Amino acid sequence: VAASIVVRPYRLPADAEALVRIFDESWQHHEDIDPKPRMVPRSLDVIRRRFAAIVPDPDRALLVAEVDGEVVGLAEARMRRDESSGFVGAYVEELAVTVAWRGRGVGTRLMAEVERWARQHGARSVALDTMETNAGARRLYERLGYTTRAVIMAKRFDRE
Ligand SMILES: CC(C)(COP(=O)(O)OP(=O)(O)OC[C@H]1O[C@@H](n2cnc3c(N)ncnc32)[C@H](O)[C@@H]1OP(=O)(O)O)[C@@H](O)C(=O)NCCC(=O)NCCS
Repeated sequence: VAASIVVRPYRLPADAEALVRIFDESWQHHEDIDPKPRMVPRSLDVIRRRFAAIVPDPDRALLVAEVDGEVVGLAEARMRRDESSGFVGAYVEELAVTVAWRGRGVGTRLMAEVERWARQHGARSVALDTMETNAGARRLYERLGYTTRAVIMAKRFDRE
């Protein structure tokens, strides 16, 4: 299976509907693993606007994974630089695989391509965040060598 996975940059708008569907499935997964009320209701229109607003940026990796010409996964990453300290790193902003293709090596392959891109752009590390309750994703990242370096805290004004 792994040999037939092709990773390439987004082609928009051609890939948009496939990306919207995969993003929506990921959003659904996050609703499933975190029963707290959402800040924003899940909406295909919101997701469509998100992909319509993407502009090419050399400091951003926008990658799809294809199997037999079908888009089955996506990864988005961004370079982070701090001029004063010289820090250069990459940050994974999205990783998602369509439900039917999860657990078959697509996410692993997308992360390998993100890391390759990051090295090419001078990154010395890759960082990401994931929900504390996202056990599957955390297992994947740990297998790939990622360790927990920080805890994200949030406070909701609408819950006060
Ligand atoms: C997390 C995700 C991107 C991983 O992609 P993938 O193609 O399923 O991953 P791979 O097949 O390369 O690797 C399999 C590993 O992913 C993890 N995993 C997460 N969800 C899984 C699922 N539904 N099925 C199988 N493995 C899953 C496991 O750690 C698994 O390793 P294991 O076989 O040792 O248990 C994908 O499952 C997904 O889209 N999940 C929903 C969205 C999400 O949580 N994205 C991450 C946000 S930080």
